[in-house]
Amino acid sequence: MTSMLNVEPDIKLYDLHPPLDDFRAEVLNGLTRLQKSISPKFLYDKRGAELFDAICTLDEYYLTRTEVAILRTYASAIAELIGDGVLIEFGSGSSQKVRILLDAMSHLPTYVALDISKQHLQDSCRNLVNAYPGLETIAICTDYTQPLQLPVIPSIQNKHHVAFFPGSSIGNLQPEEAVQFLKNTVSLLHPNGSLLIGVDLKKSKDILEPAYDDAKGISAAFALNLLVHINRELGADFNLDQFGYRSFYNPVGRIEMYIISLADQVVRLNGIEIPFWKGETLRTEYSYKYSIEEFQTIAIASGFKPRTVWTDSQQLFSVHYLDLC
Ligand SMILES: C[S@@+](CC[C@H](N)C(=O)[O-])C[C@H]1O[C@@H](n2cnc3c(N)ncnc32)[C@H](O)[C@@H]1O
Repeated sequence: MTSMLNVEPDIKLYDLHPPLDDFRAEVLNGLTRLQKSISPKFLYDKRGAELFDAICTLDEYYLTRTEVAILRTYASAIAELIGDGVLIEFGSGSSQKVRILLDAMSHLPTYVALDISKQHLQDSCRNLVNAYPGLETIAICTDYTQPLQLPVIPSIQNKHHVAFFPGSSIGNLQPEEAVQFLKNTVSLLHPNGSLLIGVDLKKSKDILEPAYDDAKGISAAFALNLLVHINRELGADFNLDQFGYRSFYNPVGRIEMYIISLADQVVRLNGIEIPFWKGETLRTEYSYKYSIEEFQTIAIASGFKPRTVWTDSQQLFSVHYLDLC
């Protein structure tokens, strides 16, 4: 674990952000494959985080409002399960959903926020500490798909650790990656922790598809901002006018999202020429959907024991609480 920076009096920041060279290597690797693809973790620069927050407010994007409603409805039951433990949020983003839990708690637990987007992480933690004075807040800028050890912090030793992974971000991982992520989480929580996780349920594609391709075009702007991020950070020359966006539901159980080349063209990155043909796609995200039973099956295979699951009345979204086996 790297050294800690006390960026704010009440926030301890640990910077484990992967170096720019890793970003370059991953992008180059993804752009030179038969099916071009780039990990969704690179979607979240400052503008990307703002666009994602805008997506969360869209009529078509039922996920956020439904998960928020479930968390609000069952907040006191969840707070009781967490007790005075440590809350560890993966992909904390704007740290909005955790407020529902904090509001339901009589004792503020310690909050550990993990996110790959450093500036957004710092800004969100500052807003949180202003709203919840006295909340011990630890920010860790890291890639949560990598195995992680928490820093040694005396106040969290021997406390019940509860991992919080909202937003159905588990769906961005391929099922075998999801199992690996859950196994890593088991190691992090060992010996007695729990997981509170939001998982989007399978449903009609008439509801699913508009959620990822909205009428205002914000989902498209969010995906295309990835190219702006790569141009700025890695000096590539993607011409934004020459790319579009499309997404669809694949009946294997996932939404697939792509940037699509609108012309035959060549993009330069790091002295390498990357050809695109007209109509060629660059995958930006998968979003897997799981029935309650499907998710519990992979959770059990990873070392968790389901304790409770809450859903909304339309069975759009699920929030699972699981303990370690
Ligand atoms: C879909 S947003 C979810 C934000 C919030 N948790 C919610 O439910 O509304 C995903 C967040 O996870 C972060 N993120 C994505 N991939 C990540 C990774 N591999 N490691 C760490 N953070 C990641 C992004 O920066 C972003 O803030």
